[in-house]
Amino acid sequence: MVKKKRACIFISGSGTNFRSILKNSREYNFPINISLVVSNKRNAVGLNYAKKFSIPYIIIEKNMKKFEKIVLKEIICRKISLICLAGFMKILSKNFIRNFKGRIINIHPSLLPKYKGLNTFARVIKNKEKYTGCTVHFVDEKLDNGLIIVKKKILIKKNDNAEILKQKVQLEEYNAYSMAIRKIYAVN
Ligand code: GAR
Repeated sequence: MVKKKRACIFISGSGTNFRSILKNSREYNFPINISLVVSNKRNAVGLNYAKKFSIPYIIIEKNMKKFEKIVLKEIICRKISLICLAGFMKILSKNFIRNFKGRIINIHPSLLPKYKGLNTFARVIKNKEKYTGCTVHFVDEKLDNGLIIVKKKILIKKNDNAEILKQKVQLEEYNAYSMAIRKIYAVN
């Protein structure tokens, strides 16, 4: 039996990556348990999964300085060892990231280092790319930067639009995120 680490998920919206990690975390040999969900939006749909599965959650609708102060306290007192950003649409301060160096990971909907930032699907289509995908990476002080853990690639078909691409990439994200978490803790 794996001694599971305690992880925290940061969300801002639909939380489908959170849902997928939560499902996998039920496996006996998955390396983490989700011990806390943090949302910067009270109406984030993803909070419903936390409520449904009785995962502790906090909503912090404050500026980032106050947000980070509250989160830091929670993370220390709940002994969290991994922070997973999953559709968290705020930028953490350099100071916060330095405090948790090597312990914050993020999922981004492109094949990094290409297409950092927002609106990745529209930009990929505009540039007539042949492939896109998603990347799970450690968070460092630069946006969508940091050591890559897992990348998943999909072929873009002729009639794909941004919405279709989003759906296809999100399906890959669900595999990629849990794969990355297993990889960090070297579990197959
Ligand atoms: C995901 O597709 C994720 O890659 C993206 O937000 C979505 C969240 O979906 N993240 C970013 O764009 C971060 N720059 P979810 O809330 O259903 O997991």
